[in-house]
Amino acid sequence: MDLTKYFQSFISYLEAQDFNREPKNLYEPVDYILQLGGKRLRPLLTLIACDVVSNSYEKALPAAMAVETFHNFTLVHDDIMDEAPLRRGKETVHAKWDVNTGILSGDAMLILAYQYFENYEPIVFQKLAKLFSKTALEVCDGQQLDVDFETRNDVTIPEYIKMITLKTSVLVAAALKMGAIVAEASEEQANGLYNFGLNLGIAFQLQDDYLDTFGNPETFGKQIGGDIIENKKTFLYLKCLELANDVDKEKLKYFYNQKLEDNSTKISEVTRIFEQNEIPALTQNLIQEYTNKSFEDLKKLNISESAKESLISFGKNLMTRKV
Ligand code: IPE
Ligand code: IPE
Ligand code: MG
Ligand code: MG
Ligand code: MG
Repeated sequence: MDLTKYFQSFISYLEAQDFNREPKNLYEPVDYILQLGGKRLRPLLTLIACDVVSNSYEKALPAAMAVETFHNFTLVHDDIMDEAPLRRGKETVHAKWDVNTGILSGDAMLILAYQYFENYEPIVFQKLAKLFSKTALEVCDGQQLDVDFETRNDVTIPEYIKMITLKTSVLVAAALKMGAIVAEASEEQANGLYNFGLNLGIAFQLQDDYLDTFGNPETFGKQIGGDIIENKKTFLYLKCLELANDVDKEKLKYFYNQKLEDNSTKISEVTRIFEQNEIPALTQNLIQEYTNKSFEDLKKLNISESAKESLISFGKNLMTRKV
């Protein structure tokens, strides 16, 4: 699929937004994070979904902008919660300014996201706002579980999948469904696209968790080992606990009950234990499984074969991404 037209169209729309507003300390961070780049995965999905249903995508630009603005709001607050220094290869908002700035600029972005729906007529507006509110609350639920899991020692893999579904994949799914809503698609098409996004989003977050430990620090754009530092109960950790010998299992549990100043030994030891237990390959297998599930949902959908193939190639690219 030629994504360039969607990408360029979205970037032009984004660049036409004027965040050069007062007070500077509120809007500069908004402009900073939105202009910092990123894959623009979610807005692209909104545009693509609209296009595959109605053969046009420009009308979905405000909805795409709403999704990307909301996503960036979650990143700013997530980086505060995860104490992350780097985002897209640059300083995070709270590191560059301060935590209070990150909180309020994030809040403003959440409101700005909703304002983009004002571009739509009442029926579409209501459908978008309803889906968006439900999704945003689910993201909060997922983020809270993610934080709760940091200090829990009995998290299960199904609980982890539930958590990443909430914090990440519902937004990927909603991004697609919003494109369908703008295109005035049938319920069946809209929900089919949503289900495709749900499994794709799970694969996407698994890949994010994989890259957090095994990504290339030169290109990943985030601190490698951040999840290990923060004791995140990812699939990597949970699967490894199942497989490691008793000595390594104790070591893992020991490290994941510590918050340290110097994390170099913790990161290298945990990474070694993950590797020894073939966690990289097992994670890749699970990513493949969820990606395949998402393709099954797609096959059932009432859209053109060429649209299906385009979405499949999009999904395959996500699976092998490095950032
Ligand atoms: C990061 O999202 C947060 C996750 C849900 C994994 P992306 O990986 O889409 O971040 P950008 O927008 O491309 O930087
Ligand atoms: C983030 O998950 C999910 C949301 C932002 C809602 P992560 O904490 O793994 O995302 P990154 O790795 O910081 O981008
Ligand atoms: Mg994070
Ligand atoms: Mg997080
Ligand atoms: Mg991550």
